[in-house]
Amino acid sequence: AWADVAELEPASGAGRVRVRVRGAAQAVRAVGRRVAFLVLRQGPATVQCVVSGGGDGGGMARFAAGLSRESVVDVAGVVSLPREPVRGTTQQLVEIQVEKLHCISRAVPNLPIGVDDAARSEEDVTRAKAAGEQLVHVGQDKRLDYRVIDLRTAANQAIFRVQCQVENVFRQVLLSEGFVGIHTPKLIGGSSEGGAAVFKLDYNGQAACLAQSPQLHKQMAVCGGFGRVFEVGPVFRAEDSNTHRHLCEFVGLDVEMALRDHYSEARTMAAILSCIDLCCCCLGSLKLFDITDPSSLLYVAGYLGTTLRLDYDEGIRMLQEAGVHVDPMGDLNTEAEKKLGELVRDKYDTEFYMLCRYPSAVRPFYTMPCSDDPRYSCSFDVFVRGEEIISGAQRVHVPELLAAQAEARGIDVGTIAAYIDSFRYGAPPHGGFGVGLERVVMLFCGLGNIRKTSLFPRDPRRLAP
Ligand code: 4AD
Repeated sequence: AWADVAELEPASGAGRVRVRVRGAAQAVRAVGRRVAFLVLRQGPATVQCVVSGGGDGGGMARFAAGLSRESVVDVAGVVSLPREPVRGTTQQLVEIQVEKLHCISRAVPNLPIGVDDAARSEEDVTRAKAAGEQLVHVGQDKRLDYRVIDLRTAANQAIFRVQCQVENVFRQVLLSEGFVGIHTPKLIGGSSEGGAAVFKLDYNGQAACLAQSPQLHKQMAVCGGFGRVFEVGPVFRAEDSNTHRHLCEFVGLDVEMALRDHYSEARTMAAILSCIDLCCCCLGSLKLFDITDPSSLLYVAGYLGTTLRLDYDEGIRMLQEAGVHVDPMGDLNTEAEKKLGELVRDKYDTEFYMLCRYPSAVRPFYTMPCSDDPRYSCSFDVFVRGEEIISGAQRVHVPELLAAQAEARGIDVGTIAAYIDSFRYGAPPHGGFGVGLERVVMLFCGLGNIRKTSLFPRDPRRLAP
């Protein structure tokens, strides 16, 4: 990262390199009146700069010592090897003997949160207190209030690079498989998933809402002659779910494709995507983290092996045998999903699996019932450590059945008339799936809270920053 910004110039003296670097003043320390140490940070990297008074009587060192933390600073100087390791930095290979110093943007002297405070856990603070040091712990809510500062931690810098890679791999894999990237409207006339979890708005006098998913329009794109489509875009859910894994706005990675082999093809794509390419890429990027706890990385073997596929019935049986009360034709609640994740891990030695053939009653109206038993559906969810990351299915492409299923769920068919009509003009059997980007990254990185993987999270209480 430094090479990108440093303008290298030959300096006088053999083997000396003169550089110019711009960064944020992460730490400033004065040693006497004539020397100051300045740690500059750029993205996840830092470098120590030594400002020592030359002919100016220590003026530059005093100026450096007076810089407020996080001010943006330009330095020009000569690269040297550090005499001693730099504390609290990620990069200690070289330091810069400063010749010129300019403050480009001065940060307020009392920042609402410190970058270091933001990275500290309560345990760190307790440990430091026991050792007689002064440390501050800033809770997640306050960190999110000052997200611009919070984002500067090395961990956050890594998280959003991982997220970018996950999205990138998703695109690359699909493009190489002949999929076309599309953008569906986010202003639509009604619910796309059924249910009331929509943000309603007035669209020039007409009732409208923010799209709960690209579901209906991605299917219509397949009917429009695109055999294989994908979309990366915002998804809006007006759920009042204050949990570690729900957001009111998240990034959906969506796929829809015409099927030859009914729903097994969609399942295979989900498995291929998530378990091989996504994982390899993520694990590579995760080297950015200083992860000392191996349990925070998913087991590579779990991903690269054949994805375990369980029928819903079998999952129900496993739960019942473990003494969990579940309705065989009902949905699994969060605790039951978590418990099943543990049972699967103990029995099959994997934290990654697919649950297939859900009861039709617990799936959206557009889901295809199984031909051998319509009480069940051609659908699946993919779980990591007992938490859902992907949901998919074969869709109903028969308009009469689609309308009947919508009506049976109390949906006003008038609001989706154009969607249902799309299947009257010749429509291939098709299926697809949706993945939540923030949720995948949260689970890949073992982060425990989805707000950490959303740049500026929107949850039921948060609309700012
Ligand atoms: O399970 P969902 O609601 O399925 C759909 O939207 C379907 N249209 C997908 C399909 O093609 N059949 O959402 C898909 C994924 C979930 O598996 C989860 O990863 C994520 O989106 N997700 C959320 N992420 C964050 N906050 C929320 N409130 C989420 N709801 C779902």
